[in-house]
Amino acid sequence: MSYFDAILSPPEIDLLPQRDLRGAIAVVFDVLRATSSIVTALSNGASGIRPVNTIEEARDLKTLNPNLLLGGERNGERIEGFDLGNSPLEYNESVRGREIVTTTTNGTVALRAVAHAETILAASLLNATATAEFLSKHPANPVILVCAGTFRDPALEDIYAAGLIAWILQAREMRDPALVAKSVYAANHEDSLALLRSAENGRALIRKGRIREVEWCAQVDTINIVAELKPDGFIRSI
Ligand code: MLT
Repeated sequence: MSYFDAILSPPEIDLLPQRDLRGAIAVVFDVLRATSSIVTALSNGASGIRPVNTIEEARDLKTLNPNLLLGGERNGERIEGFDLGNSPLEYNESVRGREIVTTTTNGTVALRAVAHAETILAASLLNATATAEFLSKHPANPVILVCAGTFRDPALEDIYAAGLIAWILQAREMRDPALVAKSVYAANHEDSLALLRSAENGRALIRKGRIREVEWCAQVDTINIVAELKPDGFIRSI
């Protein structure tokens, strides 16, 4: 059955591996910062980013392929021995042509939780319209907007970005969680930076002196790519 749904909090994400996602397009949002970093890395020419759940998994993959870059965070900070943290500003020209393995607290977990969907996309404010256009070309597929959240809580900026996609695709018949996201976006659509600055994650990053990362992630539609998780486990630009 076709649906346009949303998952707003991490405890619901825990249930996704058991959910029937046959034929569905899952769109994962972790605006601050995992999916914004993934989209930025692809726009700067990274050839692929592989999301994994654990630090050990990432290290094992690097042992098998020393050319991989390791990225990600725990408690917001770069993991010991990793090449990159989780700031989108680190995923600059230096990642061109590289394959990256990343593990983060919520974003990569959400991406792995929907790995059985027919299509899995990583989305952010940066590539919202490009992602919405992809969805508009697949009107028959059920869509599930997955907001990665923060630890066990919903994250305002993820719901806002999901709401932007729901807003663009107004014509679809939506389940209530998607309408909740759309309402959050509609109430704040004029100023994405103000929204991100007011969110708990935005405030935490600003306290750490990382306002430039918040500003980067608040940009809407500056990157015109669709980021798809491929069967080989890497997210690539399509
Ligand atoms: C996550 O995946 O939980 C986040 O993106 C956290 C962060 O960037 O610090």
